[in-house]
Amino acid sequence: MSFKPVRVGIVGLGHNGLAHLREHVSSGMSEVVAVCDRNRDVLQKVSVEFGVRKLYSDDRFFDDPDIEAVSINTGDNDHKAPFLKAVRAGKHVLVEKPLANSEADVHEMVAAVEQADPKLKIQVGYILRFNPVFAEIHRLAAEGALGNIYYLEGDYIHNLLSQAKQTDPVTGKNWYLDEELPLVGGGSHPLDLLRWISGKDVTRVCGCANHVAFPEMKNDDCQVCLFQFEDGTIAKVAALYGPRCTMLPFYNLRVYGTAGTVERDTIALSSSPEDHHPPFQSVGVDRVKGHPYLPEIQDWLTAIREDRPPRCPLHDGANSTLATLAAVRAIRDRTEVAVPVFRARRFGVAADSARFGLAAVRSAEDADDVERHAGQFQ
Ligand SMILES: NC(=O)c1ccc[n+]([C@@H]2O[C@H](COP(=O)([O-])OP(=O)(O)OC[C@H]3O[C@@H](n4cnc5c(N)ncnc54)[C@H](O)[C@@H]3O)[C@@H](O)[C@H]2O)c1
Repeated sequence: MSFKPVRVGIVGLGHNGLAHLREHVSSGMSEVVAVCDRNRDVLQKVSVEFGVRKLYSDDRFFDDPDIEAVSINTGDNDHKAPFLKAVRAGKHVLVEKPLANSEADVHEMVAAVEQADPKLKIQVGYILRFNPVFAEIHRLAAEGALGNIYYLEGDYIHNLLSQAKQTDPVTGKNWYLDEELPLVGGGSHPLDLLRWISGKDVTRVCGCANHVAFPEMKNDDCQVCLFQFEDGTIAKVAALYGPRCTMLPFYNLRVYGTAGTVERDTIALSSSPEDHHPPFQSVGVDRVKGHPYLPEIQDWLTAIREDRPPRCPLHDGANSTLATLAAVRAIRDRTEVAVPVFRARRFGVAADSARFGLAAVRSAEDADDVERHAGQFQ
């Protein structure tokens, strides 16, 4: 099948933006026609190393008609401005997770997409969906192999102490120290995974936190919360940025269903309702090393060319980000917080979340336009 390369522009050329740039080059499915960063030194390096011709350090990037699709890799608190400009200019977007760093920004970004061309393909960078082990667990859960899922755990335990040295040479600031919310920047990864595997959405959250292991951060570095889903399912997510250890060998993931259990990358499946002690065995798919940027990018580019939704469309990513932002507010206010849910437009806004069973929510993954659920936003 011939595939006309998608003409991509990349905003933000730090660690992550450069990783995306390399994978676009190796994908053979896109041409990086332009890059944008406020740091001109970085632009020059990219021009020399990758031969990108158009270098921007301001908003003229978004007016460039040569750019069909924009990849946004600015810091967590700096996604909204480039996102709104790209969407309003009619570009497809892959925006890194978390969608934004405040609840108000999430709502504004979703509202902008609701006003935009419904054919735009907006992918949120919840990359765990492209890890083959998690994709297999998702497939098994969707087929019903785990039965009715009622409890899940996923943690983001990542030693990010070295970020204390990452001062931005242009602003003199360090957004990881000043703005980062571990539950949002890190914890929304496992929450997104738990939402994707269970096919359910969060409606309430509470939690607690402390600030011991990474004192250079302005915000708490250890945040733990309990999410309750629409049908009563519970999920626990912990986000720790200062553990004294190297990266754990595999992500902490646990899923409990009435017919099976997942423990990291092993699974126990009952052979009958009477089989209460099935053994754990490998999920049967190899672990991958590093971030699966390439399949994530390929999915977005294919979605654009084939006019089909990406694996993590905007409303879905917005729900994962918004629930963790609500969790941070719940922690701060020492209370339980209700979480609104964005729904794909095709299912209608009037429906109460309880009416959406597993199948309907899964089907919602296939829709890329959004509609706000009538839930109360506190
Ligand atoms: N999916 C993943 O697994 C994963 C992994 C790492 C980082 N990330 C995400 O990627 C994003 C970037 O992270 P990073 O570590 O590369 O950050 P970084 O601070 O290293 O890089 C950000 C870059 O964006 C530029 N920039 C910031 N605001 C800009 C603006 N308004 N216009 C133009 N340029 C601007 C900065 O000059 C810098 O070069 C974050 O949202 C982060 O959470 C995702």
